[in-house]
Amino acid sequence: MEVIFNRRSIRRYKNQPVEPEKIDRILRAAMQAPSATNQQPWEFIVVQKKEILEKLASISPYSKMTADAPLAIVLLANDDKMRMKHHWEQDMAAAAQNILLEAAYLGLGGVWIGVAPIEERMQAIREIFGLKSKLKPFCIIPIGYPGKGQEHKFVDRYDASKVHYDMY
Ligand SMILES: Cc1cc2nc3c(=O)[nH]c(=O)nc-3n(C[C@H](O)[C@H](O)[C@H](O)COP(=O)(O)O)c2cc1C
Repeated sequence: MEVIFNRRSIRRYKNQPVEPEKIDRILRAAMQAPSATNQQPWEFIVVQKKEILEKLASISPYSKMTADAPLAIVLLANDDKMRMKHHWEQDMAAAAQNILLEAAYLGLGGVWIGVAPIEERMQAIREIFGLKSKLKPFCIIPIGYPGKGQEHKFVDRYDASKVHYDMY
């Protein structure tokens, strides 16, 4: 899939709203992800209000771009939905990757802002939205049309020395 090879983290965005159909498509892609026992622990908060985007931007030194994105998706895992409690981060990572890939496919771009398992970032997000502790914030993904100097392009990371056949 070309989009896998060309996707890059996009950290600056055009001042252009994202069409609701594209947001819907991205959320559908997220929910197509594999998960342990198909438990699908995810929930999503789509944030478009500037004041909330600004609050999300302040949860870490590496999340500033969120303030200038037209939207951000906050990925949450609901503890009540987890049968395989130890696998929730892997489930959520698969959903996050689907979001980034679908966004790129649609001509948009995003970046994965790491939240879990850093407790202070998880707590900061819980406070922004008034979430109960059963909801585990996993990551934030600001999304928008790529801004100046930002583009999806292939960077070759293939490293044959990391591949082992039959034995290490
Ligand atoms: C778990 C995880 C956490 C990340 N956290 C951040 C972050 O807080 N801020 C940021 O700008 N990028 C973050 N990134 C994006 C990485 O920096 C980026 O994926 C990496 O540099 C490779 O670049 P690429 O996405 O363009 O291929 C994160 C990525 C992952 C997978």
